[in-house]
Amino acid sequence: MKQFPVISFSLVALATTLGAAAPPTFNRDIAPILYANCATCHRPGEVAPFPLLTYQDASKRAALISGAVSGRFMPPWKAEPGFGDFAGERRLTDAQIALISDWAKAGAPEGDPSDKPQPPKFTEGWQGGQPDQVLTIPVKYALPADGPDQYRCFVLPTGLDHDVYLDGTEFRPENRRIVHHALVFLDASGQAKKMADASPDGSYPCFGGPGFPAAGLIGGWAPGLTPLPHDPSVSQPIRKGMDVVIQIHYHPSGKPEQDQSSLGLSFSGPPTKGRTSVLLFDHQLDIAPGDANYVAKASLTLPRDVQLAGVTPHAHYLCKDMKVTATLPDGSTKPLIWIKDWDFNWQNAYRYRTPIDLPKGTRIDLVYTFDNSENNPHNPVHPPVHIHWGEETKDEMALVFLTVLLPTTDDTRDLQRDVGRQYVEQFLSQVRTLDDLPYEMLSPDAVTRLTQVFKMFDKNSDGRLDDGERTAMLAFVKNFQEHQQQQAKP
Ligand code: HEC
Repeated sequence: MKQFPVISFSLVALATTLGAAAPPTFNRDIAPILYANCATCHRPGEVAPFPLLTYQDASKRAALISGAVSGRFMPPWKAEPGFGDFAGERRLTDAQIALISDWAKAGAPEGDPSDKPQPPKFTEGWQGGQPDQVLTIPVKYALPADGPDQYRCFVLPTGLDHDVYLDGTEFRPENRRIVHHALVFLDASGQAKKMADASPDGSYPCFGGPGFPAAGLIGGWAPGLTPLPHDPSVSQPIRKGMDVVIQIHYHPSGKPEQDQSSLGLSFSGPPTKGRTSVLLFDHQLDIAPGDANYVAKASLTLPRDVQLAGVTPHAHYLCKDMKVTATLPDGSTKPLIWIKDWDFNWQNAYRYRTPIDLPKGTRIDLVYTFDNSENNPHNPVHPPVHIHWGEETKDEMALVFLTVLLPTTDDTRDLQRDVGRQYVEQFLSQVRTLDDLPYEMLSPDAVTRLTQVFKMFDKNSDGRLDDGERTAMLAFVKNFQEHQQQQAKP
């Protein structure tokens, strides 16, 4: 009998906890969410404009925080749930958003100090351990207090006297207030060095790409992303004499700033598996001013079985919607990624939690939508003008890199060769005049060869291929490729 009052007391406590009577508090409910999902960027010296570590930081911005998370503007994460299952997804649950919103409505109470969790600890310095070689950009780059964002390329000679295999890179931004993201390329052509040497501060402007045909993309960084674990099985060669080129996107902070970021390289033996990037793109962009729904499309059929490890969609400011889908030979479809409100400032190399098996014969489709109207707040040109493919801020791109895994490095070479042939056939089946060649995507060598072939088949030399001439050219190229393949066989 004596136990009854105790039991009924607990029931009341339980009912109170479950009911709306007790609002969430910062210490018990909100701090754990902010520490786990926001503090990577919202802490001193990081990219976000204010810290979210203390009760004071958060409570004075309770309404702003509630609005930013309810609209899913924060934490920044562009991929739609259900369209690809990605590692490191930054997404609050509906329950977490409801807690933050209830907390803000209740006047942002602090709660019991004993509920408060320890603030998160962050590793200073290299996140993945000391690299084998550290390359630092050769100048302190000065960024003015305001003005437009800047995209600069810095050349970092490796100074290596022999070839090496890279199994991981880590970009370390020096000034995180202004470094918005970075991409790391290899240059085997020496072109980047020429451009950098011609400029007094040893760097050159580069918005849409590094300005040379890159011999590989070897790394990247964006706020809040942790470096990939080293993987010697898919190491990549850096040949002696190649330059490492870092493209950095700077965003002015309101004060004059400087930056001298670094890149860590770690080395291992040659790869035991194949990994490569397959590019899918629509280069024939012709976006009329005022067109709010221009659709770019590209397709590619996989010439062999692959595992898809990741996907990196890319476009500039006019793009609003990106969808990449796989249609398997059995007719079933797999969504690879969908971004509904593309934002150039939050691009990402998305990595699947588990690689996706895609059999030979799978068709990959890219469908991107662009808004070149005055109503697009990201439109960099006023009034809008005709837009084509290019690397400048006002130009556009529609492409996706697919990171695929294959059993051996020979398989990656064969895959790239087969994909290359598919592209040549696609180009040639569309080509009417020499102006139609995708010059931006081709090496000078390929342009020379394709021009020769074109002239050979333009029998009446009127500068145009009619249907008959084009069919003859396609048959010739196909034949030539098959012949080459026969020759390549041991
Ligand atoms: C990957 C880095 C990153 C993460 C993670 C992140 N933020 Fe942000 N946040 C930013 C940046 C950068 C800005 C400045 C606006 C911009 O550039 O988009 C910002 C701006 C904000 C703003 C101001 C919005 C406005 O309208 O002025 C709020 C509020 C905010 N973040 C809350 C949060 C909360 C809450 C979380 C966690 C649930 C979070 N952020 C996670 C980087 C981040």
